[in-house]
Amino acid sequence: MRFTKAIIAAASLLATSLAQDEGIPYTDPASGIVFNTWTQPDLTFGLALPPTALTTDATEFLGLLTCKSPTPSTGWCGLSLGGSMVNNLLLLAYPSDSHVLTSLRWATTYGPPVPYTNPSAKISHISSTVNSTHYSVIFRCVGCLSWSQGGESGTAPTTPGFLVLGWAYATASPGNPGCAGSSTVRRHDSQGVFGAVFNSAVARAEYSVWAARATTNTPQGGCGGDGDGGVTTSVVTLPSRPTATATATASIGFGNGNGNGGCAKTYTVVAGDYCYLIATSNGLSLDQLLGINPGLVCNPLQIGTVVCLRRG
Ligand code: HEM
Ligand SMILES: *[C@@H]1O[C@H](CO)[C@@H](O)[C@H](O)[C@H]1NC(C)=O
Repeated sequence: MRFTKAIIAAASLLATSLAQDEGIPYTDPASGIVFNTWTQPDLTFGLALPPTALTTDATEFLGLLTCKSPTPSTGWCGLSLGGSMVNNLLLLAYPSDSHVLTSLRWATTYGPPVPYTNPSAKISHISSTVNSTHYSVIFRCVGCLSWSQGGESGTAPTTPGFLVLGWAYATASPGNPGCAGSSTVRRHDSQGVFGAVFNSAVARAEYSVWAARATTNTPQGGCGGDGDGGVTTSVVTLPSRPTATATATASIGFGNGNGNGGCAKTYTVVAGDYCYLIATSNGLSLDQLLGINPGLVCNPLQIGTVVCLRRG
């Protein structure tokens, strides 16, 4: 059976390569979130866990999914949070314009997955980017480390110190891509199972501050956020700890060498700001903000930095 095959593959993988599988640290420059990352042939998965995850099973995590896209903004990629495709919580991700859309899915056979309708799991985004070779999404997944649908259930406990995960990758774009929750996929071009072994760094003291950056305006495409099982409805709490630091006052130039020349609207960074928040609070994508402000340093973002929001 496929399931058995996947589990045996995962077990032998863990047994033979434990030492190499602790993941490589990666700091997202825009948010400052530090992930342990595991790279598979066609995607990289990053994970940050609550500080107690190694002693008490976590119920949520912060994830990074960066997938190849040989043609800009096409294809899809996915994760299985239990290793095998069947009867485990699946996360589908694909690029759509300048965003990545995500949808939680469920498969009872090796066939097209259906939406995961259990309301206890919610995915909300912190940021997503699309460029000519990759698309990438940073998200918070609450209630995603145990699952049940249609009488089948499973868990991905964090206290054993590793997760067995599955990945899948396709170059063809989903059908009905304008609607994250009801987009359709054909079979992936490549897939695999891997072991993500934890070191102590994966459980992060900063977790709650980072997790609070997951916003309610998670893009869903054109269908307004229903039917996904993956739409957060919680109220966003902004980080209580300053994310912009007060060590220096900085100002970046706007090209004309004189004041804010060339900029029609400016914003001065205050404590608690971070680049993605400033961008999305002003109707910009992070890429747009960075495009308007060449040389803007987001990590660390200095209090007092004058950022341009609109070119004059
Ligand atoms: C029409 C859609 C899909 C079809 C027909 C399909 C079919 C299959 C088949 C036949 C395998 C076994 C591969 C092998 O043994 O060589 C497999 C594996 C896998 N699939 Fe899918 N798949 C689909 C969609 C998805 C999606 C959307 C995801 C994740 C979001 C996914 C995740 C995986 C993973 C992680 C594996 C490897 C682990 C395992 O073998 O169970 N699949 N798929
Ligand atoms: C595109 O995005 C990927 C992943 O985020 C990154 O590694 C790569 O350097 C980016 N490429 C360009 C040209 O910016």
